[in-house]
Amino acid sequence: MLRRLHGLPGIALALALAVTALSGAVLSVQPALDRATVPAIPAAASVADVAAQVAARHPGVSAIRLRADGSLTAAFDDGGRRGVERIDPATGAGLGPYAVSDTIRFITNLHRAFLMGDAGRVGAAIGALAMLGLSLSGLMLLARRLGGMSALLRPIRGTPAQRWHGELGRLAAVGLLLSSLTGLWMSAGTFGLLPETVATTPAVTASGGAPAPIGTLTGLNTVKLRDLRELTFPDPADPTDVFTLVTADGERLVDAATGATLAMTPATTLERMNDLVRTLHTGRGAWVLGLFLGLASAMVPVLGGTGLVLWLRRRAARPRIDANVPARAADTVILVGSEGNSTWGFAGTLHKALVAAGHKVHTAAMNDVSAAHLAAPRLLVLAATYGEGAAPQSARLFLSRLADLPGQPAVAVLGFGDRSFPHFCRFARNVADALDARGCPRLLPMKRVDRRSPQEFAQWGHDLGDVLGHDLTLTHVAEPPKTSRLVLAGRELYGEAVGAPVAILRFTAPVDPRTGAPGRLPAFEAGDLVGIVPPGDAMPRFYSLASSTRDGVLEICVRLRAGGLCSTFLHGLLPGEGIDAFIRENPAFRPAKGRGPLILIGAGAGIGPLAGFVRANAAGRPVHLYWGGRSAASDFLYEHELAQHLAERRLTTLRTAFSRDADESAYVQDRIAADAPRLRELVKQGAQILVCGGRDMAEAVTRALEPVVRPLGLDLPTLKSSGRYVEDVY
Ligand SMILES: Cc1cc2nc3c(=O)[nH]c(=O)nc-3n(C[C@H](O)[C@H](O)[C@H](O)COP(=O)(O)OP(=O)(O)OC[C@H]3O[C@@H](n4cnc5c(N)ncnc54)[C@H](O)[C@@H]3O)c2cc1C
Ligand SMILES: Cc1cc2nc3c(=O)[nH]c(=O)nc-3n(C[C@H](O)[C@H](O)[C@H](O)COP(=O)(O)O)c2cc1C
Repeated sequence: MLRRLHGLPGIALALALAVTALSGAVLSVQPALDRATVPAIPAAASVADVAAQVAARHPGVSAIRLRADGSLTAAFDDGGRRGVERIDPATGAGLGPYAVSDTIRFITNLHRAFLMGDAGRVGAAIGALAMLGLSLSGLMLLARRLGGMSALLRPIRGTPAQRWHGELGRLAAVGLLLSSLTGLWMSAGTFGLLPETVATTPAVTASGGAPAPIGTLTGLNTVKLRDLRELTFPDPADPTDVFTLVTADGERLVDAATGATLAMTPATTLERMNDLVRTLHTGRGAWVLGLFLGLASAMVPVLGGTGLVLWLRRRAARPRIDANVPARAADTVILVGSEGNSTWGFAGTLHKALVAAGHKVHTAAMNDVSAAHLAAPRLLVLAATYGEGAAPQSARLFLSRLADLPGQPAVAVLGFGDRSFPHFCRFARNVADALDARGCPRLLPMKRVDRRSPQEFAQWGHDLGDVLGHDLTLTHVAEPPKTSRLVLAGRELYGEAVGAPVAILRFTAPVDPRTGAPGRLPAFEAGDLVGIVPPGDAMPRFYSLASSTRDGVLEICVRLRAGGLCSTFLHGLLPGEGIDAFIRENPAFRPAKGRGPLILIGAGAGIGPLAGFVRANAAGRPVHLYWGGRSAASDFLYEHELAQHLAERRLTTLRTAFSRDADESAYVQDRIAADAPRLRELVKQGAQILVCGGRDMAEAVTRALEPVVRPLGLDLPTLKSSGRYVEDVY
């Protein structure tokens, strides 16, 4: 819901907001320019001083004004010669006619009313309201992602568009909140929606005597020029008329003969508020604030652009759910926890079958769970599992939100996972336990689907149909992922002699057969994943990328699994033969930005992305690689390339461990334990640790690293939560 609230008006109003924001950004520079160009007001100068000087030059002066831009101007009508002149506040001398530049007038009009009068002003007010909503919902979304309001300043991880949107968004948020709130206040004033100021100017009687020299009038020479807003001169033809002097404090009437203050009307609270709001909105008289607001506004088009990219990606990634009735009207709610979207496909099949059987069905992401979902009579949860039993992307917030909501629908939970992971469907199990604990009646016991098996899904549908009292046939045909064709350009085989064949495979895009032009690789970074669909199977297997698009090849290290479909297929591939592949970004597994040290740890094929990180380290940041194989003679992957990287200082140190070499038999965790003091020092300096390879190796490494970091008052969960310990294990 929050995401929808943030996304829809964001897209719809992007253009209008960009116009308002950019024109606002241009105007925001004005206070700083004014400060540089407009003469400063001397601290000691009084209103009487300058009024006397101006009256001496212009007998027909009617008013003197200190404008919002800091310039002092005088309006006069000297018997036929009339105009508005800029005044030097130090001497009262004329500085030429006063005029607002046409450009500034145009930009101001664009900013306030899109050049469209009152209709435009209404549009600008709606824009300010939308900006307020976007800033607030954006901050809440970011807080939700980073783990709460107190975590708002944590490093943001994700795709480049996610990072740019988040980083710029939180930088601009304070400025945009201020601009939109003050803009709304000013719009309310323009449309008379604020309580009117009551005109309370009292009737006074002037002394009627001959006007005294202006410089001697007490009512004027006790007021500092810098406090002036406007001084209106008395009509020379009317002996009962008086000076009207307006300052931030209010309006005073001053006798032209005696200089006495005849009346003082203090500024109302509303007038003072209006002054403050104007300063906060325009930065007039506060040029640093002006520039800050301008900078925040200038980010709006970038935020709009990156927001659009994120929205389009999310839309493209999810299958369309037809006949999705509102949650309140549904008899059955389906909530989906997915990361790679395949579970959405299953949810789509289930939704369709239930609708065909006459149900009113609502399907949504688990993150969006609300009271309306839990008020439905029946709740079906389809949830995948990632990592060590963790929630997938679209379900990260489910358990914490569930705890705050009422409702006890009858539930059935179906887990999607892979038996080869140690925590098979663990997240779905946690969800089922949480629903049990709140007393939700069970429609069915929790079931698990291994490797997206359509048969297991169909069986669950059959059981559900029995409970619902009608047939429910779930025939799910997985939508094949959109793949690109790649061609094997080269291969190197290692480890055969020690019974652990690992191939380094390099792929390129096929040459266009018509033009002969080289094909283009998709965009990826080292550490991302390539999904490869083996012939004869619908389920993709993932491999960690050892190269980035800039290297001109897509490179992976593949360990041959006995009886394994995809690894056998890849090992049998000959140069020139092709595969169907797609990229899955893996932004969590990347070296952190900056020049801090990196500790890379891996074994076997896990060296792939680590070698890619070293290769990309042209800047020579300190990188220490720990890697374990079986035998230096047989499976030392990247041996020559790593020697070259050491010489070029892309790699600072390399520690290898070979488990089958009689003279130095050791595992990578042994090297870590032996190097504890050195590693501790690196962690103390802020090093990030990246681990890649098999699960057993990763567990052994964790055990070896705990005592390394413990004396620093750290542990691996803490390092993990701050992104300083990241894993790509399988
Ligand atoms: C994030 C990630 C990154 C990875 N990176 C790499 C990498 O860089 N290099 C690499 O070599 N591998 C990597 N893998 C592992 C890779 O994706 C494959 O799992 C691996 O290559 C085996 O696939 P396969 O098709 O050869 O084997 P499969 O045919 O999938 O079989 C795998 C094993 O399970 C057994 N098996 C088959 N079907 C079942 C079943 N239904 N239930 C139980 N067991 C079954 C097989 O006999 C075999 O032993 C990564 C995995 C993940 C998730
Ligand atoms: C990186 C990665 C980690 C995974 N971790 C687990 C896991 O810990 N337990 C499990 O049962 N399945 C795990 N899986 C398998 C997925 O849960 C399974 O493929 C699921 O069908 C994916 O659904 P989705 O495409 O909707 O995200 C993992 C898959 C990947 C790619």
